[in-house]
Amino acid sequence: MSGQNSKTEGALGTGPGVGKWWEKEVIYQIYPKSFKDSNGDGIGDIRGITGKLDYLEDLGVTMLWICPVYRSPMDDNGYDVSDYRALAPEFGEMEDLDELIREAGKRGIKIMMDLVINHSSDEHEWFRQALKDPGSKYHDYYIFRQGKDRPNNWRSIFGGSVWEKVPGRDEYYYHTFGKKQPDLNWENRELRRELYDMVNWWLDRGIAGFRIDAISFIKKDLTWADREPDGADGLAKCTKASRVMPGIGEFLGELKRETFDRHQCVTVAEAAGVPYDLMQDFIGDNGYFDMIFDFRYADLDIASGSEWFKRLPWTVKELKEKIFSNQMTMQRYGMAANFIENHDQPRAASKYLKEAQYNTDAVKMLGAMYFFLRGVPFIYQGQELGMVDFERSSIGEFNDLSSIDQYHRSLEGGLSEEDALRIVNLRSRDNARTPFPWNSGRYGGFTEGTPWLGMTEEYPKINAEAQRKDADSIYGFYKEMIAFRQNGPYSETLTRGGIAPVSSGDDVIAYRRYTEEEEIYCFFNFASEKCAEALPPGEALPIWGNMEAPGIQDGKIILRPYQAALIKVR
Ligand code: NOJ
Ligand code: CA
Repeated sequence: MSGQNSKTEGALGTGPGVGKWWEKEVIYQIYPKSFKDSNGDGIGDIRGITGKLDYLEDLGVTMLWICPVYRSPMDDNGYDVSDYRALAPEFGEMEDLDELIREAGKRGIKIMMDLVINHSSDEHEWFRQALKDPGSKYHDYYIFRQGKDRPNNWRSIFGGSVWEKVPGRDEYYYHTFGKKQPDLNWENRELRRELYDMVNWWLDRGIAGFRIDAISFIKKDLTWADREPDGADGLAKCTKASRVMPGIGEFLGELKRETFDRHQCVTVAEAAGVPYDLMQDFIGDNGYFDMIFDFRYADLDIASGSEWFKRLPWTVKELKEKIFSNQMTMQRYGMAANFIENHDQPRAASKYLKEAQYNTDAVKMLGAMYFFLRGVPFIYQGQELGMVDFERSSIGEFNDLSSIDQYHRSLEGGLSEEDALRIVNLRSRDNARTPFPWNSGRYGGFTEGTPWLGMTEEYPKINAEAQRKDADSIYGFYKEMIAFRQNGPYSETLTRGGIAPVSSGDDVIAYRRYTEEEEIYCFFNFASEKCAEALPPGEALPIWGNMEAPGIQDGKIILRPYQAALIKVR
């Protein structure tokens, strides 16, 4: 087989990216802590995932992205790794992971792991050594600066300075995220070598690839100069001086050559902030990664991922424009990674549909809208059930460290306690992290013990068991939608085909998927009113949707409220 980045010019496929082994995957994201607890300690675990493989196979997904399961003090739920080659005991043993890889493989499901190499935990042996002996080689594995005062005014993503004082010494270490997540010093060759060995070690274990955390932060502005303050705390966002900085390409290119290129693996980078004109370097034919997550439309309701209190009003028209600029850019260079939820985002039904979040037609329409875009679709656990946000009534009920920080920054910025709580409820990462509701029993069947994080009160209504019995449910819809995309008569066009925007009313998102042989128009009505949209000349045949086929008259399609409709035009 040729390398993962080879390009084939098929007659059917359209555009760059076509011809890769992974282009037809449907990836399901698992937040292990909240998926299924197998031993009653209230914490989801690897054996819990293995026990639910039949469910995932029935749904039809082909790959799982598992959020970090490495050894970790869990300050940021595993995004603070204290040993890259061992698992957190609460998640299980290495044999459990081998069993998961094996059992998933039997069902045609591959495993993608999370790779967290911008930072480690402060409990990692390297960091302990660095603190214990500033003369040791490990001291240069991290970013330290000497002095009585913090070296500059950059703000970390989770709030406060990026610099934390080393107790008992006039020295500071750098952290992009929480203070228990010191950044690794990518300028150090030996550190990079250790990371590459570790990445290869994992790939040799039979995993299909990696989702790569926060990777756009590995290069910093080495002048460490202060930036113009931009908040009530007098600090400046560190992103300005540490995200997608000049020179990052040397590290990313080396990472790829030394690891990914040596395996038939797939990589998707969490690379916020990559300008569209750099996309060729990131996901082009010889790009650093196969795909990247683009947050431009995920974060359309806030000023930035680390400023939830700066809420932005948005419209479906804007959502549409952002989706199209993402799609047209990604199509030019490669494949998009399409998602509407993940473990850092609110539930999609609540965020994008607002008061229509319980309307099952609307939830299905939203699911189909992103699912048939060009690229690889990602489904976050519970999205297939139409889970909604969980409103908490006091800050004490939150676990997520960034929620707690955003609450305090909102207060500092002058909001009342009530408003600060409202803001945090709208955006908290805990919204997506509530335990998965398997059935209507106690704690939704997630655990025999007490769940580590409060359940939503919705599980008697919204749960997997009830929805699997009901073909009309959101689960039933996702299952059918996955099968239609993967194996239906239009699968080639819907996966490898090109995409182009179709002009439509403000509340309708419409696009065209095409190959040389076939054209499919896709319409998604976000409004609670019916509407009419123009169709191109020719015979129009409704082929799929979330409700009875739409009416077609005088060259127009009549869409019901929240209707999704795919129309083949000849
Ligand atoms: C992005 C991850 O998705 C998020 O959950 C985590 O807190 C940060 N990176 C830091 O690793
Ligand atoms: Ca457990």
